Amino acid sequence: MSTFERIVLSLIITTTFSVNCSSNNKCVKESSCRCRKDEYSYIDITSVVGDNPYLEDIHGDFTFYFLGCNDKEFNAIISKNNCTGLPIKSSLIMYNSSNNSCSAIGSASNIEFEFAGQSNRDYQLVYNKTGDSAVDPTIRLLCNDFEIPFIKVINVNNNELVLSSPKVCLITQHPGLSAGSIFIIVGFVTAGIYFFGGCLFLYCIRGGRGLELIPNLDFWKSLPGLVRIVKDKK
Ligand SMILES: *[C@@H]1O[C@H](CO)[C@@H](O)[C@H](O)[C@H]1NC(C)=O
Ligand SMILES: *[C@@H]1O[C@H](CO)[C@@H](O)[C@H](O)[C@H]1NC(C)=O
Ligand SMILES: *[C@@H]1O[C@H](CO)[C@@H](O)[C@H](O)[C@H]1NC(C)=O
Ligand SMILES: *[C@@H]1O[C@H](CO)[C@@H](O)[C@H](O)[C@H]1NC(C)=O
Ligand SMILES: *[C@@H]1O[C@H](CO)[C@@H](O)[C@H](O)[C@H]1NC(C)=O
Repeated sequence: MSTFERIVLSLIITTTFSVNCSSNNKCVKESSCRCRKDEYSYIDITSVVGDNPYLEDIHGDFTFYFLGCNDKEFNAIISKNNCTGLPIKSSLIMYNSSNNSCSAIGSASNIEFEFAGQSNRDYQLVYNKTGDSAVDPTIRLLCNDFEIPFIKVINVNNNELVLSSPKVCLITQHPGLSAGSIFIIVGFVTAGIYFFGGCLFLYCIRGGRGLELIPNLDFWKSLPGLVRIVKDKK
């Protein structure tokens, strides 16, 4: 192989690899609460907010309210906030204390799940081109063991948040073998051992060759006859 051929080959191999790696990380949206990465892995954030009406974080003049992956009503009673613009039905709301206004910055129907690029378990929600915000808000999903969920503002200029909860994790379920497939596998292995072991025995000990190598050959030969007898008796 020439050097040129080697370079071309390695290029083909690396591009194939990288294409598959990146495409494999895609989590395809099934609803505003669910995405599916492949047959066995998915993210489901339906119950992430739990019994709380929302999760909130205050950052300077701004308070962010995450109401979950479905639009929910946000009013003065729920919000304990006397801002203008209420009530609002939304998934993500921002309160601006400089002018005491609340505004929807993310609607559930615009949620997309996006691979966030570092480990292959990192995903984020993107509110794709929506609401009153110039910048698409993003919520990085932080999968961990802390039972109490929280949101945290990372960058207020970009509406960048993190959401921490055990309920934002990528879940992978490999189905166990069913009883039926175990039965079939055991059956094939037993049959294999029977025939292979039988052949070996007949070949080495009995010095059998050709058809003689099939264990219990007489029995197998008589099988069609036996079946006929059983049928006739019925
Ligand atoms: C790699 O990805 C391409 C398309 O992205 C696909 O056609 C191909 O089957 C994949 N190969 C493997 C080994 O998964
Ligand atoms: C909310 O604001 C209105 C006027 O903007 C005022 O009349 C009302 O008393 C306020 N309520 C509370 C609970 O602060
Ligand atoms: C307050 O600021 C928001 C942007 O945060 C703007 O949409 C809204 O119109 C402003 N409201 C008032 C009363 O100035
Ligand atoms: C918050 O309100 C102030 C006062 O109206 C406004 O100048 C500022 O742009 C608002 N901030 C955002 C992020 O909307
Ligand atoms: C946002 O929407 C545009 C067009 O609707 C689409 O091309 C883009 O892929 C979307 N972004 C994400 C992160 O899904």
